[in-house]
Amino acid sequence: MFNRSSLVPPLFLRLLPILLCSLFTVAQTKPVDAAGHQWWQHAVFYEIYPRSFADSNNDGVGDLNGISSKMSYLHELGVDAIWITPCYPSPQVDFGYDVSDYLNIDPMYGNLADFDHMVGDGKKRHIRIIMDFVPNHTSDQHPWFLDSKSSRTAAHRDWYIWRDGKAPGQPPNNWISIFGGSAWTLDQPTNQFYYHFFYAQQPDLNWRNPAVETAMLDTTRWWYKRGVSGFRLDAVDTLFEDPGLQDNPVLPGTNKQGDRNMKFQYNTNFPEVHQELQKLRKVADESDAVLIGETWTSNVAELDRYYGQNGDELQMPMDFMFTTVNKLSPADFRRQIAAVDSAHGWPVFVIGNHDLVRSYNRYGDGKNNDAIAKLMGAFYLTLRGTPIMYYGEEIGMENNDPTRKEDVKDPIGRTGWPAEKGRDGERTPMQWDAAPNAGFSKRDPWLPVPPSYKTHNVETESKDPNSILNLYKNVLALRHTNEALLEGSYAALNEDDPNVMSYLRSYRGKAVLVALNMSATPQKATFNLSQQGFARATLKPLIASPEASAKGSEVTLEPFGLLIAEVK
Ligand code: GLC
Repeated sequence: MFNRSSLVPPLFLRLLPILLCSLFTVAQTKPVDAAGHQWWQHAVFYEIYPRSFADSNNDGVGDLNGISSKMSYLHELGVDAIWITPCYPSPQVDFGYDVSDYLNIDPMYGNLADFDHMVGDGKKRHIRIIMDFVPNHTSDQHPWFLDSKSSRTAAHRDWYIWRDGKAPGQPPNNWISIFGGSAWTLDQPTNQFYYHFFYAQQPDLNWRNPAVETAMLDTTRWWYKRGVSGFRLDAVDTLFEDPGLQDNPVLPGTNKQGDRNMKFQYNTNFPEVHQELQKLRKVADESDAVLIGETWTSNVAELDRYYGQNGDELQMPMDFMFTTVNKLSPADFRRQIAAVDSAHGWPVFVIGNHDLVRSYNRYGDGKNNDAIAKLMGAFYLTLRGTPIMYYGEEIGMENNDPTRKEDVKDPIGRTGWPAEKGRDGERTPMQWDAAPNAGFSKRDPWLPVPPSYKTHNVETESKDPNSILNLYKNVLALRHTNEALLEGSYAALNEDDPNVMSYLRSYRGKAVLVALNMSATPQKATFNLSQQGFARATLKPLIASPEASAKGSEVTLEPFGLLIAEVK
């Protein structure tokens, strides 16, 4: 009989050189620290909506030179990488998420030379650039689509998803676009429908066509060569759909666009997505780059799959489970953190982005919003995982929603008015100072700033030691230097406390305790840390709200007060 075990030593010996060689390559391209962490695990990411960050040429819309001019601000704040939402050429139907050329910069933002300068300016201040990559769809003005729709036999016809109608004038199935209406649009001249999960101006690419895959992988390679350190992958769960086009199950009720609710069973989350992510990751690994995913997972099993069975897909899937806790609820937060911690990858924490009402409004109670904004900053920036901030969060920017339909810029706000006001409110210009237009531009900006810019702006808050901005700066400075925060494990404390959210971050005998009063009444909390190896712990405050204090292992917190303390 064939003895398998007898093969083991020779096979192992034969594989050894390959093994050593690949370990060496990994070590070369992926430097890790003593705790085994890579650069993106220590980095603080910051999302920039380029239309709204800084307007260097005063045309009312932000640009890349504007971003470059703010690199030292970002560095002093404690940011290590910026993710810039799409700044490629685009008709701007979805404000850049409708790309008409993946290998260029939209003139409204500058040009490739400005991009190169921005990369250089970032490098000088140790800030990496992460681009947004939109793999699911292009603009309907992209040359690929223009060719695709030109005839049924065009070279790019099969780069998109074309189907005959069920009957004359009737779409192939019941799928709806999440931006409203049918997900199918009829192209009269060729008498076929094309598929779009988002707007009709955003036709879905056909990822089952190998030419599409090659073009997209090459696109990422091109940008890595240009100096980007990774991508945030847009809407990855929508890359594939059922080739049989089965109808989606219809659910009760209608959505904000007035369409019937449905389960996106046959047009999202196909297993093929993971094969593509593995390929994108392979290319990313050639450049020690990071892949962040807009993954919209609703449970840990789904989240786990995005890390890849062998850790070979996304390093940083954004699960958004954390953003579903829209109240100051320690119990809910504990549950979410435990869930993300139990996944087989590195946690990512996000409390706001360009599609979500600002965290200042979502968590704020209308009276103590500044204290709550500080509390939330002290919270997610001290967890075990990589945070992705959203521009303006550090100064307590609030939503500025349109009050009249005619002012709405985001198309979903126009089609869904008044149930859906769109996403303009969370995309308003960065508030730099108390000058008109918050110092963003000398001209009226594309979206109006809220009246609170007079008090909530970078210049004013820089001067106030108690501002949200200075709290963020202090926490980020601590996070970059304190080993327990940088490398440490996470352990929930006092898990039955309904008001004070607390946890311990510890690493090699050093520990930091974080206590956050999520209630509107004063609270005390006592900690017994013997289980964690700190039997007679005393707490030495490192960062605290004005009335917070520690005596031995007891903490006193004012309403929404916070304390970050070293455990002695
Ligand atoms: C993502 C983006 C969103 C955009 C959509 C379509 O969800 O975050 O802003 O509208 O994709 O590209």
